[in-house]
Amino acid sequence: MAKVERALDESLATVVLDVDDLTAVIADVGLDVFMDQLIDELGREIGAFDPARVEHQIRSGFNYETPEHGLVEWMPTMVAGDVVSVKTVGYHPENPEKRKLPSVLATTALYDTTTGSLTTICEATLLTALRTGAASAVVTNVATGPGPLVLGVVGCGAQAVTQIHAISRVRSIDRLIVTDTNPAVALTLADRLPEGLPSPQVVDGSEFNKAVGQMDVICTCTSVPIGDGAVVDLSRARAGLHINAVGADFPGKTELPLDYLRSAVVIPDVIDQCLIEGEAQRLDRSELGPSMVDVLAGVVVPLVSAQTVFDSTGWSYEDLLSARLFRTHAIRLGLGTTVDLQRAPEDPYDPYESLRGTTAVPRSTERSPLARGLG
Ligand SMILES: NC(=O)c1ccc[n+]([C@@H]2O[C@H](COP(=O)([O-])OP(=O)(O)OC[C@H]3O[C@@H](n4cnc5c(N)ncnc54)[C@H](O)[C@@H]3O)[C@@H](O)[C@H]2O)c1
Repeated sequence: MAKVERALDESLATVVLDVDDLTAVIADVGLDVFMDQLIDELGREIGAFDPARVEHQIRSGFNYETPEHGLVEWMPTMVAGDVVSVKTVGYHPENPEKRKLPSVLATTALYDTTTGSLTTICEATLLTALRTGAASAVVTNVATGPGPLVLGVVGCGAQAVTQIHAISRVRSIDRLIVTDTNPAVALTLADRLPEGLPSPQVVDGSEFNKAVGQMDVICTCTSVPIGDGAVVDLSRARAGLHINAVGADFPGKTELPLDYLRSAVVIPDVIDQCLIEGEAQRLDRSELGPSMVDVLAGVVVPLVSAQTVFDSTGWSYEDLLSARLFRTHAIRLGLGTTVDLQRAPEDPYDPYESLRGTTAVPRSTERSPLARGLG
């Protein structure tokens, strides 16, 4: 049989792209341009979504109450003949207050579908926040008129920053009205926003509700506990209000009043996922409006004049697209650390090959404890 040589692109090296690498990419590209590229990538690729080419599964994982309420979930997507992406994400809403850690922590792994090898592991905490903002921006762009906006934000944590930044890349923001049940978080929002955005007007919940009628767009991005919603009173909402409902991403966790949801055009990001854990979990499938794919593909429905809700639960395809953008820039800049996490013996049938080095590996003269009745 002819000897098969291993091609260079079939090496099993894994590139680790860490926080410093993402920082270096964004420092090179620019924060606004990186966000614009994500918005462009999500808008284009989701608008051209082809289920024959991109296969995705809804999020699954472990949800627990011990040691405290939290979850670790995995979000898989495959581009056929190219790559499988699995983002692993933890959500622990007590992290900021108890440990000074973000509520959402994530990493993404990319696998090559020719060999099955792990090609990349990358940071995805900032990347998740960026792509969640970008997803809201692409839907806001088709659901609102072209003029400047009054933007309201409920929940001023990590996601609020990228929601505001991303929306500012597709519309100018005239006024920014924000609220949080933890006033200390609302008061530091101004320090966490990129320069050049309007100063947030921090109000309490009841003042926010009174100002809803002035708002063109609202982003709800709270860590509201299960069963505690709604986080905003929308009885004063004007015709044409668009809401990016970002925080509902768990069974029982919702942010918007049900009667409002029933009367609005609800745009789910991933229909089956939204029916389980998004705002849509309280709706029937027949009550949903066009999906995110439909509206970005240009399916004609009157969105700008309607009250619209983007039911954003977070799509694994968005994670694949953002990790791929990060990787492309990182490789262009020569960033990343290469590690050997996978065994690559010269003889693919010899799993012990690497043990035959210079150092003798100790053996035992005894059988396994199990066979000796010691197990
Ligand atoms: N849709 C997506 O793709 C996506 C992506 C990432 C995170 N999320 C979700 O977004 C939510 C926010 O995430 P984060 O990283 O910003 O969390 P965070 O902990 O950084 O911030 C959440 C903020 O919401 C505030 N809050 C809680 N209940 C509130 C209420 N009733 N009214 C007003 N404010 C309230 C908290 O005080 C906190 O400041 C989480 O539920 C998270 O699971 C969704």
